[in-house]
Amino acid sequence: MYVLGLQGSPRLKGNTNFLLDMFLDELAGRGAVTEKVHAARIKAEPCIGCGYCEEKGVCVFADDDMSLRIYNLLRRADAVVLASPVYFYTFPARIKAIIDRSQALWSRKYRFGIEDPGRPWRRGFLLSLGATKGKNLFDGMGLTARYFFDAVGAGFADTLTYRRIEQYGDLEKHPGVSEDVKASAKHLEQSFSRKKILFACRENSCRSQMAAGFAKYLAGDRIEALNAGSTPARYVNAAMQEVMAEKGIDMVFRSPRSIEDAVSETKPDMIITMGCGEQCPYIPGVSYIDWDLPDPAGQDIDLMRKVRDEIETRVRRLIEDQV
Ligand SMILES: Cc1cc2nc3c(=O)[nH]c(=O)nc-3n(C[C@H](O)[C@H](O)[C@H](O)COP(=O)(O)O)c2cc1C
Repeated sequence: MYVLGLQGSPRLKGNTNFLLDMFLDELAGRGAVTEKVHAARIKAEPCIGCGYCEEKGVCVFADDDMSLRIYNLLRRADAVVLASPVYFYTFPARIKAIIDRSQALWSRKYRFGIEDPGRPWRRGFLLSLGATKGKNLFDGMGLTARYFFDAVGAGFADTLTYRRIEQYGDLEKHPGVSEDVKASAKHLEQSFSRKKILFACRENSCRSQMAAGFAKYLAGDRIEALNAGSTPARYVNAAMQEVMAEKGIDMVFRSPRSIEDAVSETKPDMIITMGCGEQCPYIPGVSYIDWDLPDPAGQDIDLMRKVRDEIETRVRRLIEDQV
């Protein structure tokens, strides 16, 4: 389980950061791979409402951290934890820029009609706090978070909020936070108790990406679909993205990674190889299956379609047999 924590406060060591760290530590203690991003350290141009993403499916600002890194992390995440103080009943500017830029992901789903394979199962969790005690303090946060989670393809799981938190260190003194965090993190993690299957091919740009995409889409509640390659390519294959989009599955914002990298982070229960042969590492206690599939990279697009359909059939059978 990979959890992305977005820390929205400009104070890098303030109350929000304390709460998010506690939440992510609790999840890490339960086996999750976690990553925290401080919005204040991210170069994300504010959305200018130009409509480019609704036409092209990607943001016009192609070279900032949002386009180069954050979309990928959002796509990879099983859970997104959005943590933020209240500023004028909403989110501070830097995290709001990230939220607004998720419009590009919204466009892919709602203008282009293609679905991120993680969407049916990804969860979004809101952590928030503010200085005052008003009844409506978190209304704006909740609404914005809900639509942000929808844009990034996450169902709203739950929220933890704290009032009367203002100065540095206030949350540390607040009673019951640790118990709240433990209970919420446990609940979130338990909804991701899944069999870990690593799909491995040579470049991690076509076959293993498609297999993981189908597995995630069809049974992401039961399978943690990992993917990697023995000699990863620089980018995923554009023809692979095209043929998966024909099936309504969106495979943008993905980067190939090595098998060593993937298994050092998460030990799989099963590895399904499809062409990495000799170079696929042996891991004791892991079961192996080999799918003999041709490498469609650089071939006619019809072969890519054939391999895609064969992979879909095999993944469906795997789901019936194994999970
Ligand atoms: C510009 C600004 C606007 C704020 N607006 C609100 C507000 O509308 N309501 C509120 O309860 N607290 C407001 N606060 C207080 C912060 O939410 C509070 O200090 C919080 O504990 C800061 O969290 P942090 O330590 O993670 O930065 C505001 C603070 C600042 C700096």
